[in-house]
Amino acid sequence: MGSGTNHRFMTRFDEFFQTALDGLSRDHLRRAVRPLERDGPVIVRREGATLLNFSSNDYLGLSVHPALKARSIDWTRRFGTGSGASRLVTGTSEQHRLVEEKLARFKGTEAALLLASGWQANAAILPALFRLSMETTGAPAVVFTDRLNHASLHHGCQAAGLRQIRFAHNDLGHLEQALERHRDRKGLRFIVTESVFSMDGDRTEVAALKALAARHDAFLYLDEAHATGVLGPQGRGLSAEAGGVDLVMGTFSKALGGFGAYVAGTRALCDWLVSTCSGFIYTTAPPPALLGAIDAALDLVPTMEDERRHLATLAAHLRAELGDRGWSTGLSSTQIVPVMVGDSGQTLALAETLARFGILGGAIRPPTVPSGTARIRLALSAAHDTAMVDRLLRALDEGAREHGIVR
Ligand SMILES: Cc1ncc(COP(=O)(O)O)c(C=O)c1O
Repeated sequence: MGSGTNHRFMTRFDEFFQTALDGLSRDHLRRAVRPLERDGPVIVRREGATLLNFSSNDYLGLSVHPALKARSIDWTRRFGTGSGASRLVTGTSEQHRLVEEKLARFKGTEAALLLASGWQANAAILPALFRLSMETTGAPAVVFTDRLNHASLHHGCQAAGLRQIRFAHNDLGHLEQALERHRDRKGLRFIVTESVFSMDGDRTEVAALKALAARHDAFLYLDEAHATGVLGPQGRGLSAEAGGVDLVMGTFSKALGGFGAYVAGTRALCDWLVSTCSGFIYTTAPPPALLGAIDAALDLVPTMEDERRHLATLAAHLRAELGDRGWSTGLSSTQIVPVMVGDSGQTLALAETLARFGILGGAIRPPTVPSGTARIRLALSAAHDTAMVDRLLRALDEGAREHGIVR
């Protein structure tokens, strides 16, 4: 896809790619992108069909908001399309500085740092952070991670070459036992987890986790990708509700309607990352268009209390209705509502039926989720309404009947 030309350039390695791709297909692990056009916050067109989108993470509908578009265009006009280099090479622009200051105020932290994307932030921050242990204690970091952490968090741990000590999902008792078991190790301890889990829509008890981390002298790394803009006071995330944690990471690609990521914490933490985080040092600074959109989103998000209330009410309605119809939604308590199916084939078939009924609902299968827990991941937006949710429910009923799914 995307070659943009009819000329087929082939290499002798294509055969290897093809063989390996065939292997993925056999194991039902091959992935492919499908063409899609967006038309407003919750309508998409795919392969000739118009679908109601219950799959995107644009939780507040900000990706099409006029204020974000206007500032993005304005900053592009005034400052250009690219930043030209890494901020360490050429210096940092006033716009980067202003957005970071606004962000730190929003998160209630001393400092903040912009990064290219959420994936890149997690992949690059963790190795830099863990290096602190070697530098200060002479021993490797001792790293405790939730079993359901996002792939980018795993990647960061792997890139650091550390063995993760995994605790059962959101099980603070299990985490405490692990912390006890490794009490005598010399390195600095780090707990790495998320405040809202992207495939389950459940939340971490951040205040309890923070207290646990403090009791065991562990650094708390919290990924707020799915909470930023949606949860906590003025949408400032669950860390703000709990009174702050050692490091908060989040993205602008979801509720904030743009792209890019941030890390928020103390000045010393951000200074350390500026000097050691490969994903900050060796990459070009985010461009003005992106900064303009982020800047406008940060002005709007604290004022969007009505949208957040509507989103929470709609999610509660959806969960209650699904429950009445016999569907399990796991431990969801947020705008992300998984419809648990179990079998991957049935989940795919259900997603196809939903599409036939004009609904886009993502079929999520292993290895993204644990084996036997395939699901339709529904993500609500403030731009959805009750009539749309009721249409979704009817389509799910139809799909369950059609494919003999036992609820
Ligand atoms: C928990 C979590 N962290 C990080 C990311 C990556 O963020 P981004 O999409 O901005 O790269 C995601 C989203 O895919 C996520 O769900």
